[in-house]
Formats: sequence, C-alpha cells, structure tokens
Amino acid sequence: MKKIKILFVCLGNICRSPAAQGVMQRLVDERGVSEKFEIDSAGTYSGHRGQLPDPRMRRHASRRGYDLTHHARPVTIDDFEHFDIIVAMDESNRRTLCHLASTPEQEAKIVMMGDYIVKLRAHYDYVPDPYYEGAEGFELVLDLLEDACSCLLTSILKK
Ligand code: 4NP
Repeated sequence: MKKIKILFVCLGNICRSPAAQGVMQRLVDERGVSEKFEIDSAGTYSGHRGQLPDPRMRRHASRRGYDLTHHARPVTIDDFEHFDIIVAMDESNRRTLCHLASTPEQEAKIVMMGDYIVKLRAHYDYVPDPYYEGAEGFELVLDLLEDACSCLLTSILKK
C-alpha cells in the first residue's frame, strides 16, 4: 500500500511544524490509520538543524500529552518529489516553498495550514510564529494545530 506522505513546514522547524507533526501523528494513531501515513516536518531556515523542538514548545505540548522528539532539518529539493502534501504554516513559508518547487506539479503540493482552521477561523487564517511570544503564543499554536490537523486529516481520508 502506498502511504500518504505529509510534510509540515515552518521557519525554524523547532516550534510550529514539529508540533504539527506530533499532533497529526496522534490523530492518525487515534483514528487507527497510522499505517497509511508518513508524517515529517522541516524548516525553510537551516539555523536550528539537528535541534530538538524549542523547550517552550516541548513543555506546552507535553502538557497536552505530545512528546516532540523530531530533530530539526531544512527542507530539501527531494522533499518536493517524496511528499504528497507540503503544509506551510504561514504566507512567508508558502512563498519560500514556492520558490524551491521545481515544477508546477511540485508547487501544487503546497497547501496552507490556515485553510484547514475551522473553530478559530474568525480570528486566524495562518499559524503565527510563537518564537518571540509568551506562553499564550505556544498555547495558541497548539489550539490552531489541533483544530487544523483534524480538518486536514478528515479531508484527506474523504478522498
Ligand atoms: P518556527 O519558530 O518557525 O515555528 O520553528 C521559529 C523558530 C526559530 C526562529 C523563528 C521562528 N528563529 O528566528 O530562529
């Protein structure tokens, strides 16, 4: 069986995208479809390469039962061939990804996480960078990711 491969992308790959990876992994586990999916994350900036997620992100995520153990890595050209869906957290991430895509088919794999936000849709159509924010910023990211990942997974499973 061919797996559906999802790559979550943010800037540093130490806050939003590894959290999205953890949230989506738990959702596919809970819905009993984990064998159908490969889930990974990466950053458009390589400065945090090899690092575990930011301690603040790990702390907030762990309170909700997520153990984030991904090691940061930059997005590569090969990712555009390997993955089926490439999910950008904000407009800046999307623009960088569009520049990296080599073909229209690769560019068509890029989607916005914000397009899947349902409950908080009135307030957010992207996942804001929490790096320079306080605790509320990290909680907001997790609220948005739990909301959007659930909707994204439902839409993938319907196809
Ligand atoms: P992320 O957050 O893109 O959600 O991983 C950031 C991490 C690092 C930096 C900015 C945002 N930074 O400037 O190093």
